[in-house]
Amino acid sequence: MRICVLPGDGIGPEVTTAALGVLAAASSRFAFGVELDERPFGGASIDATGDPFPDATREACLGADAVLLGAVGGPRWNAAPVRPEQWLLALRSALGCYANLRPARRYTRHTTSPLRDELVDGLDLVIVRELIGGIYFGDRELGDDSAYDTCTYSSLEIRRIVERACGIAERRSGRLTSVDKANVLATSKLWRRVATEVAARHPEVTLSHQLVDSMAMLLVDRPGAFDVIVTENLFGDVLSDLAAAVSGGIGLAPSASLADGGPGIFEPIHGSAPDIAGSGTANPAGAILSVALLLDELGQPAAARAIEAAVTGVLDDGARTPDLGGVATTDEVAAEIASALSASLSTAS
Ligand code: IPM
Ligand code: MG
Repeated sequence: MRICVLPGDGIGPEVTTAALGVLAAASSRFAFGVELDERPFGGASIDATGDPFPDATREACLGADAVLLGAVGGPRWNAAPVRPEQWLLALRSALGCYANLRPARRYTRHTTSPLRDELVDGLDLVIVRELIGGIYFGDRELGDDSAYDTCTYSSLEIRRIVERACGIAERRSGRLTSVDKANVLATSKLWRRVATEVAARHPEVTLSHQLVDSMAMLLVDRPGAFDVIVTENLFGDVLSDLAAAVSGGIGLAPSASLADGGPGIFEPIHGSAPDIAGSGTANPAGAILSVALLLDELGQPAAARAIEAAVTGVLDDGARTPDLGGVATTDEVAAEIASALSASLSTAS
């Protein structure tokens, strides 16, 4: 498999190096080949080439089987003509990655979740967020005294993301919750109608609808009641941070952004965390679990499950970074996960 690696900024390079160490361990135990192509992206790329998203990086991404991304942005580049957030949106859009999967699982008993244990024990849900449409990509203008952003969705954009979510629901419990604000927004009324039509063609899927405000409340009140959640770009952005906090901390949360046919982007949900960059204390679990999602997509589910099991084993009983109450470094955690992976597999094979 050819993987285009975009380490990016802040803690991005540290967690990416850690994740690549685990990928190397998985590739030797499961006997699949990995070819890496590292490219500049983000602030580091501005420093090196003057361009946050050079054409050569875009071409390399499009020619790969998957893109592994660290994190981008940082205060140094906030004054750049195009802000760091836009670089990420340009990458997602250039690759047509409209389906953003954000699993919220209880990966370890050492969590930073503020919720009582009984509410988050065994928590395992996935948010399927529409990623390249809606208010993020609509016309906008900022004036001195007024400003606007526009939110547009076509039925095609809604249909394809709900189809994805139905496929995922079919492979899980069949329960799908569509989140909108159909009591107010026109885009949400269309969303609800199309979601209902799409789900009706999937007999194994039971669809229910929630308004986004009440969904935020329910995710805190009883997160275990949900399995697959599908929603538009902005609502998914908000709810996925909420779900990450509820399930055990943003340092653990992975994501996959998928296109139809082309390469997907795999990245931890956390940002570039400039405050701890270079200190060696970033939690590599989000990046490592993103590698597991990548391997799932590229036909290596056994390796993906083994990585997840190794992460849980190490975080439960071995090295942990300070965000999870431990004292280990990024590299120590990654090295333990890599060797747990090799050890567990040698007894299994
Ligand atoms: C995310 C981030 C991005 C988003 C930002 C950095 C543009 O918050 O991946 O959730 O809003 O999509
Ligand atoms: Mg976000």
